[in-house]
Amino acid sequence: MPVNYDNAVDFYDATRGYRDGVVERYRDALFDLTGADDSASILELGIGSGLIARAFYPALQRYVGIDYSLDMMRLIRGKLAGGPLPLLTQADARYLPFAPASFDIAHAVRVFHHLPNWPECIDEARRLLRPGGALVIVENIPPAGADPPPWGIVQDKWDDILRGLGVGDDGIGHGIWLTDESMSEYIRSTGAAAKTVDLLRYREKPVSPRIMVERRAAGMFSSDWSLPETIHRAAARALQDWLERECEAPDDMVEREMLFRAVIARW
Ligand SMILES: C[S@@+](CC[C@H](N)C(=O)[O-])C[C@H]1O[C@@H](n2cnc3c(N)ncnc32)[C@H](O)[C@@H]1O
Repeated sequence: MPVNYDNAVDFYDATRGYRDGVVERYRDALFDLTGADDSASILELGIGSGLIARAFYPALQRYVGIDYSLDMMRLIRGKLAGGPLPLLTQADARYLPFAPASFDIAHAVRVFHHLPNWPECIDEARRLLRPGGALVIVENIPPAGADPPPWGIVQDKWDDILRGLGVGDDGIGHGIWLTDESMSEYIRSTGAAAKTVDLLRYREKPVSPRIMVERRAAGMFSSDWSLPETIHRAAARALQDWLERECEAPDDMVEREMLFRAVIARW
């Protein structure tokens, strides 16, 4: 069963939203990478609350979004009000209700690390692409050498605490990232050309260690949703204790530099 993002509707946009202009830069970079323009038909896998889709709307002639979470997609209505909405369908990325060769581009941002069955999702996207089309799998990651931000420091501490409470790597895992070469290897094994590309760098909205600890304690991270409640509560108490006793500058607001890194596949 896919990770349940219905859990996140109340805080997703406030905690994962981009600064002004970032998604428009992503759209331009995607067009440059694929050679697409406003006439392309585009499928967004895991469209979520439409944070990315809004840059493509309403200029694009055909923009289709799928997501497993209906509640996330309901947030799109508010964002794109005042005109026709993109076609939205609730679906698991493994099984998509579209005819073969329906799209020029399929793209997914911050989704594939949630897909334990990602090879099946790649196969399904391939089925839906027209000849010459491209699948673009994107994750937001910190660039190599970037200073560890509050996010990273709090994340490392949280992982230590969970290990100390007996949670194994499965419970701590942060999913499959693009840097995992197995994804490109799989794509190549299906006969496609696969290339990893850094699309653009951007700055996240500033956060402090305290804000990250509060989000962690409030269960705002998908990697924590499968933890038993008692473990989550004990870990949150330990993290808050660390913040008060040991964390340097818990209230300093820091901007993290991030990267949209893509793997592009063409069959
Ligand atoms: C971190 S959110 C990203 C949303 C959006 N792409 C963005 O960048 O804001 C991950 C999204 O992937 C969706 N998702 C996870 N597993 C899925 C699956 N197997 N099939 C379809 N959607 C899935 C979740 O419901 C969620 O909306």
